Amino acid sequence: EEDKSLPKPVRIRLDETDPSVVRLREGDAPGTRVRVLGRVHRLRQQKDVIFLTLTDGYGQLQCVLTGDLIRTYAALTLTLETSLSIHGEMRVVPPQQRAPLDRELHADFFSIIGVAAGDKEAITTRVPKDADPQTLYDNRHLVLRGDTAASVLKVRAGALRAFRQTFQEERLLEVTPPCMVQTQVEGGSTLFSFDYYGQTAYLTQSSQLYLETCLPSLGDVFCVAPSFRAEKSLTRRHLSEYTHIEGELDFITFADLLEHLEKIICRVIELILQDPQMAALVRELNPGFKPPSRPFRRMKYADAIDWLVQHNIPNDDGQPHSFGDDIAEAAERKMTDILNVPIFLTHFPVEIKAFYMKKDDSDRRVTESVDVLMPGVGEIVGGSMRMENYDELMEAYKREGIGSEPYYWYTDQRKYGTSPHGGYGLGLERFLAWMCGRYTVRECCLYPRFTGRCTP
Ligand code: 4AD
Repeated sequence: EEDKSLPKPVRIRLDETDPSVVRLREGDAPGTRVRVLGRVHRLRQQKDVIFLTLTDGYGQLQCVLTGDLIRTYAALTLTLETSLSIHGEMRVVPPQQRAPLDRELHADFFSIIGVAAGDKEAITTRVPKDADPQTLYDNRHLVLRGDTAASVLKVRAGALRAFRQTFQEERLLEVTPPCMVQTQVEGGSTLFSFDYYGQTAYLTQSSQLYLETCLPSLGDVFCVAPSFRAEKSLTRRHLSEYTHIEGELDFITFADLLEHLEKIICRVIELILQDPQMAALVRELNPGFKPPSRPFRRMKYADAIDWLVQHNIPNDDGQPHSFGDDIAEAAERKMTDILNVPIFLTHFPVEIKAFYMKKDDSDRRVTESVDVLMPGVGEIVGGSMRMENYDELMEAYKREGIGSEPYYWYTDQRKYGTSPHGGYGLGLERFLAWMCGRYTVRECCLYPRFTGRCTP
């Protein structure tokens, strides 16, 4: 029973920036009685006292239960993840101790809201080091309750906020292109197709073609949308569904595109780290993270091939690299890790890049294309200037064996006031894997989709 003579508790969220929490922290409301709702995150039961860490999704709070409170059946059988309401007084923790918010809650009352299963069905929010990855993916809904997964998802939200703010500063307008389409962008081999009222349709691989059509009336544009790729290989940086951040800029040169990319990436990182909560999360997840310095290193594809040969890094067939080879994931990552700085890898050969890429006027074998490579992850951005000439684009469809009919709306751009333009796509999960120091992009989304997995 709650002691009705006590002051009515103030409900607080464990959010460091919540005004009532700020007041408590600053100490101008000593002894305030509060009420916190959340779940048992950690539990330490001793003879005369129970220490529990309560989490409410905003933050954590150490709670101390003593006296009659711990002699109840509910206290004796308390389990991790049980939801409850705790009332009590917030006190400063003793000087040598550390606690979230520098406070602990001395409970005078609690009531259970939902008991969490115990015994064989009990869950812990600490992921064991040797846990089987498949079991973890099957239980992603519970893994999300762990500190690491939650921190990554919070940084993800912060990154999305930072991208949107940066695009606004750079005057790119947000648009929302369709996900169900009838054209390919990045090659037929990774298309997911489905029946659309009796016709074949695909899940979008990239919104690029749609963004290009917005330029004449909307100016520079961006979108944040899912992209889908039926990737056959299981790698740590490929998802079947990922969040694609794409930008498209009108009346620019290739040099402008590179400069813009550098600016966007650096500004987004700056904004994320300017937020104290985000900075703390990134520090915790990736203590060694250092914002990149500008300008990024520029390297032409042809020079990368020479570099790989010199460093005895073979291609996927075990042969020395030669001009025209796709630089495979392993080789690319080795190079990026050795150079250990962000790299703009540019001027890829026409044959290994998508049909729409503009050729370099000074060397028609290559395109005005760029991949941004980051240490630890490799490619996080792919971009290029777009073919602006009508006949050249028609030739490109032919070369790639793509029928031009479904692309009439894309081709029309070249018929009605064409322009030099270009853009890029950034994989949000790869950006996060780099920034948060995660081994795989699968840790950087809510419910990862990859080869063979569409659950939960
Ligand atoms: O290099 P990509 O295929 O380029 C495009 O789709 C262009 N049409 C984008 C544009 O110019 N608007 O993909 C762009 C980025 C990659 O650099 C990578 O970060 C990410 O999308 N990406 C993936 N991320 C996770 N899983 C996959 N299967 C990915 N495929 C590409």
